Amino acid sequence: MEYNASEFLIETEVPEVELIISRTDLQGKITYANETFAEISGYEVEELIGQPHNIVRHPDMPSSIFAELWEYLQSNKQWSGVVKNMRKDSGFYWVRAIVSGVYKNGELVEYKSLRSPVTYEEKLEAQRLYDKIRAENGEKIRRVVYE
Ligand SMILES: Cc1cc2nc3c(=O)[nH]c(=O)nc-3n(C[C@H](O)[C@H](O)[C@H](O)COP(=O)(O)O)c2cc1C
Repeated sequence: MEYNASEFLIETEVPEVELIISRTDLQGKITYANETFAEISGYEVEELIGQPHNIVRHPDMPSSIFAELWEYLQSNKQWSGVVKNMRKDSGFYWVRAIVSGVYKNGELVEYKSLRSPVTYEEKLEAQRLYDKIRAENGEKIRRVVYE
């Protein structure tokens, strides 16, 4: 995969007052996205609905983090973690995500994620940890194409 070099290093800060909200079906396809999610990720709400949630996956995120997320969800546990996401323009934003099940009459019907801002120190710590995990697991490093 190739990324847009001019935007790849540009961070979009999630404002303190904003809450990014999304819901997915049980396969991880987006069924709801609020305006804040659309704005921060650089997509329109309509572009997000129906897409797999990995539409915002950043290549710096190790696969093992998402494997853990799905393991938690499949054992009916809530998962929380610091996530780096990629915008439509290849820029990035950091969030703390709390992902859990949505139940209707006691039955699991969807998943939801609420996201809040992350401090500079937490971003730094997460970036270092994720770089280390990717290196240990032999995962790819990013490739940027200069225009
Ligand atoms: C409710 C919910 C929210 C999610 N939010 C994100 C997210 O913000 N960023 C992300 O990369 N993956 C998110 N995921 C995980 C993705 O579904 C996917 O597992 C991940 O992006 C890894 O992509 P892959 O499965 O293609 O390896 C979320 C999953 C669920 C159920």
